[in-house]
Amino acid sequence: MTVQRVLTGITTSGTPHLGNYAGAIRPAVAASRHPGVESFYFLADYHALIKTTDPLRVQRSTLEIAATWLAAGLDTDRVWFYRQSDIPEIPELTWLLTCIAGKGLLNRAHAYKAAVDKNTADGVDADAGVNMGLYMYPVLMAADILMFKAHSVPVGRDQIQHIEMARDIAGSFNHLHGEHFVLPEAAIDASVATLPGLDGRKMSKSYDNTIPLFAPSAELKKLVFSIVTDSKAPGEPKDADGSALFELFQAFSSAEEARAMRTAFEEGIAWGEAKQALFEHIERAVAPMRERYEALIAEPAQIEKHLLEGAAKARAIATPFMSELRHAVGLRRLTDVARPARADKPRAAAQPQFKQYREADGRFHFKLVHAEGHALLVSAGFATPREAGALVAFLKQGGEFEVAGNGVFVAGERVAELAADVVAIEVRAALAALAA
Ligand code: TRP
Repeated sequence: MTVQRVLTGITTSGTPHLGNYAGAIRPAVAASRHPGVESFYFLADYHALIKTTDPLRVQRSTLEIAATWLAAGLDTDRVWFYRQSDIPEIPELTWLLTCIAGKGLLNRAHAYKAAVDKNTADGVDADAGVNMGLYMYPVLMAADILMFKAHSVPVGRDQIQHIEMARDIAGSFNHLHGEHFVLPEAAIDASVATLPGLDGRKMSKSYDNTIPLFAPSAELKKLVFSIVTDSKAPGEPKDADGSALFELFQAFSSAEEARAMRTAFEEGIAWGEAKQALFEHIERAVAPMRERYEALIAEPAQIEKHLLEGAAKARAIATPFMSELRHAVGLRRLTDVARPARADKPRAAAQPQFKQYREADGRFHFKLVHAEGHALLVSAGFATPREAGALVAFLKQGGEFEVAGNGVFVAGERVAELAADVVAIEVRAALAALAA
């Protein structure tokens, strides 16, 4: 079985909420326990700088998100768990990718386009308030993913376009410099909940409708009771589908419990009673983690140690890979000898070729063409394509020939001419390359 590499990051610009937990952290921790999976989970603190200029917020959020992963049961011995900014190879790779990413591609990124559309609607300059970090966001994200050759990237739907851009950029790089990168795929798990927030829209910091994952129990209760519902009275049947409250309940209960709650909805459970049940179910899942979380937060040095160990483990991959990539693009010691793009997967265009064709006089010829496109030898004319083809096959298989002056001879017969300025050894090298 080939190992599947799974990679995902969380931007460290806020406090983890129930949506982050149910939609990303919980499934990621579960997936990391599968055999045959290598998991790379990281704190995207370079991405946080795009959203905030408040240093304390970045630091605090990094602490909180790291503590959340650990409190949720992530086994740091099994996975690669690190902070993005501890891996200097990531910004370095970002630059290499920046130099091949099309500006037009980035113009189409949703987040950038939304900012431009808003500015246009507001009648201000299209790029007002847009920093280059926002513009380059997808390239930094591509570097995160491509650095570790991730196959699968679990993300929310809003991130699919970024994974497609990473594929696109990886494809361009591979085409130019050889097969260095794995083309990643977005993994959208339909069974994983996208939780609604207090107002029924997707739970998101930007809507200010979140329930912090580790809010103290009393605050959690207050927030759950503030979830917006319709005004149906106790005893009136309620629709579970489309109810934010029910969706949240489902995310923190077994299938059986959810079925029972659906029935209770049909039978007209009072909203207050449903909210109490939801609070208890969330509390049941969160309370033991909250305890671990608080112990962890109280000891930042412990978390820091985990992160530094994780960084060393990640750099054991990133550092040698980056030197391969530097070599590939030409950032080389002057004494280095060029390595072929990649020995096991030669690029199509890097091969010499035989080309067969027919001249105006009706006779059949072939040429041997160098990898760089210029002719090495041109054959005499033959009466049938079969004769020309037989000679091509003979030469390809390493058949003997002699060169005298410009003439190429097989069994004493002059079958071809060397092209201008070509010497015999170039022809022999090209044939050897073809045979290999
Ligand atoms: N952009 C992601 C988000 O905001 C976070 C992120 C940064 C990420 N780099 C990544 C996710 C690489 C997956 C892979 O949700």
